[in-house]
Amino acid sequence: MNAILRLDDVHTDIGQYHVLHGISLDVPEGGVHVLLGRNGAGKTTTLRTIMGLWRARRGAIVFRHHDITQMRTPDVARFGIAYVPENMGIFGGLTVEENMRLATATGVFDQARLQRVLALFPAMEKFWTKQAFALSGGQKQMLAISRAIIERRDLILIDEPTKGLAPAIIRAMIDAFREIARETTILLVEQNFLFARSLGSSVAVIDDGRIIHRGGMAELAADEALQTRLLSLSLAAHQ
Ligand SMILES: Nc1ncnc2c1ncn2[C@@H]1O[C@H](COP(=O)(O)OP(=O)(O)O)[C@@H](O)[C@H]1O
Ligand SMILES: [Mg+2]
Repeated sequence: MNAILRLDDVHTDIGQYHVLHGISLDVPEGGVHVLLGRNGAGKTTTLRTIMGLWRARRGAIVFRHHDITQMRTPDVARFGIAYVPENMGIFGGLTVEENMRLATATGVFDQARLQRVLALFPAMEKFWTKQAFALSGGQKQMLAISRAIIERRDLILIDEPTKGLAPAIIRAMIDAFREIARETTILLVEQNFLFARSLGSSVAVIDDGRIIHRGGMAELAADEALQTRLLSLSLAAHQ
């Protein structure tokens, strides 16, 4: 397997708490790969550790054969990894246009690319000159994702994009993710198994800072007993 990102025995402490207890994970190149786990399992901490927002105390993070374990966040981003955090990281007081311009390296849009992003998320064009706080929850999420793809990135880390969104918006998001995954690898963190399984080709399940399962999404989707054992009640509630 050709992994674009590899985590090998990554341990992360937050203050005095040992949160990640040796995460080992391969993200294959291309498509959507899912990190599933209940609330508090360590999903966000894993993404933040990849981005250098938390420092791994032990273990290695390798992106395209480069060791990025100790790299600073701006360098990780420049290396080609985009991050859409749980709180989306958009600027409410700035317009959609300004939010997107700030996500470019030079402040200048690649027009062909911009047109593709606007075709993917038409609401962004409609609200181009409006302040971001005026957008709905789903539109804010679409803006956050637009910012992540406005310049070509090899890998996009997305933290629970469906949280709090209506089913119709989630369906639109599935289509958008499929389109984005044609040119980029997506590592998607989710608790929503229905959303995750409609997109993901591989899946890892995290619990208590450890990976407790790795495999194909199709196998997990077909095996209800395995789902129940791995995902227990917190995720079964989504089905
Ligand atoms: N800033 C923090 N300070 C202290 N503990 C934290 C902090 N962030 C996360 N944790 C703890 O680390 C564990 C994993 O959290 P997190 O990675 O946010 O889980 P998830 O994203 O899977 O819900 C939880 O027990 C959480 O309470
Ligand atoms: Mg989280």
